[in-house]
Amino acid sequence: MASFTSSSEVLMRILLLVGGIALMMYGAEGDLVSETCKQTLYSQVCESSLRSDPQSEISDLRGLAAIALNLSIAHAVHTLSYINNLKSEAAGNETDFLISGCLSDCVEEYSDAIQNLQDSKQSLNDKSYDTMNSLVTAAMTDSDTCEDGFKELTGYESPLTERNQYFSKLCGNLLLFSTLLV
Ligand SMILES: *[C@@H]1O[C@H](CO)[C@@H](O)[C@H](O)[C@H]1NC(C)=O
Ligand SMILES: *[C@@H]1O[C@H](CO)[C@@H](O)[C@H](O)[C@H]1NC(C)=O
Repeated sequence: MASFTSSSEVLMRILLLVGGIALMMYGAEGDLVSETCKQTLYSQVCESSLRSDPQSEISDLRGLAAIALNLSIAHAVHTLSYINNLKSEAAGNETDFLISGCLSDCVEEYSDAIQNLQDSKQSLNDKSYDTMNSLVTAAMTDSDTCEDGFKELTGYESPLTERNQYFSKLCGNLLLFSTLLV
């Protein structure tokens, strides 16, 4: 009887220990997203975007950077098709003639931004973080240039402000990732 009690006690202790370790590990993994995002300029954008990919929960810092990069590319690709839609809506509309020029510039700028981000995937793989930084900065500049184009048109508001700003935030956060990885 005594030995039964003691062995079940031992079992209990082991279970508690295993449970404790599992909790610690789960807590630590779940925290990497928060811990990293806390250090970014736009931590809420960082958290919500990374959490949209379940892979984030089981990724290390490099993995998170790769996911963040993919999310930025996806946003740029969506924006590019959104701009193309606006362009075809504006086509043939005399009032929208001026805005068409800006939209065409934005198509070029976003195509360039996508290329820069694609190239920075390679830099991330090669651990060339300086190059990654330059490419991401270039992508950010592309969207700023797109936004600035509309400021030269009086009486027009940029239809892309929200998208451009969100893209800038994603890129700004990527810059921190490349800094942390060095
Ligand atoms: C990034 O996107 C590429 C192409 O869509 C995919 O093959 C890759 O697994 C993605 N990487 C991550 C870390 O999600
Ligand atoms: C042309 O563009 C103006 C300004 O965006 C808009 O108010 C108007 O409805 C458009 N006309 C057509 C035919 O789409």
